[in-house]
Amino acid sequence: MVVQGELFVIGNWKMHLTQQAATDLASTISDPKTSHDAVTIGIAPSFVALAAAKASRKSDDILIGGQDCYPVDEGAYTGSVSAAMLRDAGCSFVICGHSERRTHQQETSHFVREKAESAIKAGLHVILCVGENAGFREHGSYLSFVETQLRESLPASATRENLTVAYEPIWAIGTGKHASRTDIEEMHDHLKAVLHELLGEKIPRIIYGGSVKPNNALEIMSLPVVDGVLVGGASLDAAAFNAILDAAYQITSNQTRDDGRSKAAQ
Ligand code: PGA
Repeated sequence: MVVQGELFVIGNWKMHLTQQAATDLASTISDPKTSHDAVTIGIAPSFVALAAAKASRKSDDILIGGQDCYPVDEGAYTGSVSAAMLRDAGCSFVICGHSERRTHQQETSHFVREKAESAIKAGLHVILCVGENAGFREHGSYLSFVETQLRESLPASATRENLTVAYEPIWAIGTGKHASRTDIEEMHDHLKAVLHELLGEKIPRIIYGGSVKPNNALEIMSLPVVDGVLVGGASLDAAAFNAILDAAYQITSNQTRDDGRSKAAQ
């Protein structure tokens, strides 16, 4: 899958919604406006709600994605779902290395890289999540911690076309306390420099996640270093998610960021 939009807005539904609830929610997400193909929209339902969400969305332009994958195509791995299976189910992307999996399932960056590699091989676009907890932030070692996570999780085959990095500070996820403009700019600039060093000129997009809501989406996505958002809680509410999409449409229509530069020109 090629992410073409200037801004990538993804809803991460986590372990929420029955098939019926997923059907209801997917059917109320705004139809992507053809005049706004600068915004790429994705939703990541649970595995068992993928088909329901896919069938009820208003347009094929609302991309469907998995929240995780296992790095082997098929085999005796009870309970796991492979990237190839997600692709077969109609997914265009998959989230790899979300902090909730790194924390609750003890996933290492090495394992996350294997997942991302298998997803790219299967033709999925990878949303590679990195982010520090409050301890690293308070200690002041957050830049080096996230840099190491990125270096260890990034597959060698990563390109702008097949992978997007999501910076999601753990202390901002589900807390209602989003990272400040300065925090986001500092980390995104740092990660962009690391990506330049590793991959050369054409680096993957970097999106932000962590308490993105209708009241802060415009401010966050207006930052020139932000290529979109990964939305958890607010993506479960159609009105809130549609308001975040509206903010993305507004920004891309104006074609300028708060520093007056077009994102496409960067
Ligand atoms: P949140 O979650 O928007 O509820 O903070 C973001 C995420 O975990 O991807």
